[in-house]
Amino acid sequence: MTSSPRSFPEDFLWGSATASYQIEGAVDEDGRGPSIWDTFSHTPGRTLNGDTGDVADDHYHRWTQDLDLIKDLGLRAYRFSLAWPRMQPTGSGAFNPRGVEFYSRLVDGLLERGVQPVATLYHWDLPQPLEDVGGWANRDTALRFADYAAHVADRLGDRVAMWTTLNEPWCSAFLGYASGAHAPGRTEPEAALRAAHHLNLGHGLAGRAIRDALGDAKLSVTLNLHVTRPVDADSAADRDAVRQLDAVGNRVFLGPMLEGAYPKDLLDDTASVTDWSFVQDGDEATCAVPLDVLGVNYYSTSRARRFTGEGEMQHADGHGDTGVSPWVGADDIEFLPQPGPYTAMGWNIDPSGMLELLTGLSRRYPDLPLMITENGAAFHDTVDEDGQVHDADRVSYLHGHIDAVGEAIDAGANVRGYFLWSLLDNFEWAWGYDRRFGIIRVDYETLERTVKDSAWWYSRLIATNRLPPAG
Ligand code: FCB
Repeated sequence: MTSSPRSFPEDFLWGSATASYQIEGAVDEDGRGPSIWDTFSHTPGRTLNGDTGDVADDHYHRWTQDLDLIKDLGLRAYRFSLAWPRMQPTGSGAFNPRGVEFYSRLVDGLLERGVQPVATLYHWDLPQPLEDVGGWANRDTALRFADYAAHVADRLGDRVAMWTTLNEPWCSAFLGYASGAHAPGRTEPEAALRAAHHLNLGHGLAGRAIRDALGDAKLSVTLNLHVTRPVDADSAADRDAVRQLDAVGNRVFLGPMLEGAYPKDLLDDTASVTDWSFVQDGDEATCAVPLDVLGVNYYSTSRARRFTGEGEMQHADGHGDTGVSPWVGADDIEFLPQPGPYTAMGWNIDPSGMLELLTGLSRRYPDLPLMITENGAAFHDTVDEDGQVHDADRVSYLHGHIDAVGEAIDAGANVRGYFLWSLLDNFEWAWGYDRRFGIIRVDYETLERTVKDSAWWYSRLIATNRLPPAG
């Protein structure tokens, strides 16, 4: 007997996601200013093969073709980000009319094709002049961000279905300022905690600015919440290591954003790094702007314990190894390699983490709708003799994870949508063009697009609202 395929709620929002620096290219065109990722990627040794986003997918010039593909696949929504330095080249002062026009046309183009625009204000491309005066470690950046948000809301707000303030502030703060794996490449633990706070504050201020400009705006933030398991669940020390990682990896954002306060254990765990005096009276309440949706990005799980002192300490947390840990205040915690299978990122494939994350969040925040704003997989795809990309491994990854989303909904999780990362192969940050996440292939020589099997599979899922078989 075969069971009937899993189905999803009728109004479930199916989409796909990208980010400005990863796809646009045209970094010097039409008044765009430099971002920290331009500087970082042009610094020798920072990205694999010295890759940069100078051309990327050339989406800036090919956006109509990309929107047609979105329509052909039947996506209901498209999550993209606005490049702050394209909108406001120096991060303060004058806005760039040609930048505003580009995103305005993009939003209109989506609406014309019946696709809901879901806009992220910040997906890591900070204007370089703001980094030159301290970046996110400087409180003023949060105020600049709110000013930018107000302007964008004013210009595009009437047409955007959902606003997301930040994408993965954990990466901005801890990969950007602690491990240095991402731009701006700083390795200053205290600055990383400051940055985390100013991102929280920026989120709160920007969210309030959007609400002031557009009373009924749908507001969200996207977090990459870490699913970490203890190496030995019976060990109190291992369980405490996981608690500590949850504080500095997850609750450092969930606390202020959703509960209006930093968790006490986080302040204790990091007391040797900072006294947190950069948190001013009233800040925590400001961070807790009411949200309509929490965006969740999920890819894989990790396993940790307190270092026992035996052998070499291991750092297999999946966030690259610069020799400096992104886990501030947790120098005695080690990450053990996970059992496979793995994607091309070396990340383990574990849909049970998706289920655990969604059901856990819904238990903790029962009134807050959730949306998967990123999930997907990189594989070393090849083009077959027939000119097509038969990416069965990606289909299988997606099948397993979307099935887990369905299971979470059945278990009572309040999940409203799913955005597949990514629409197109693109510039995968420090990994450059070597890791392909797209359901559409991009040939980086010709910039030609080829729809992969996984995209057609996803299209079938969207058309029927039922999970097609993986093979
Ligand atoms: C997330 C980022 C996204 C992409 C995926 C693979 O951390 O938000 O831009 O790089 O990982």
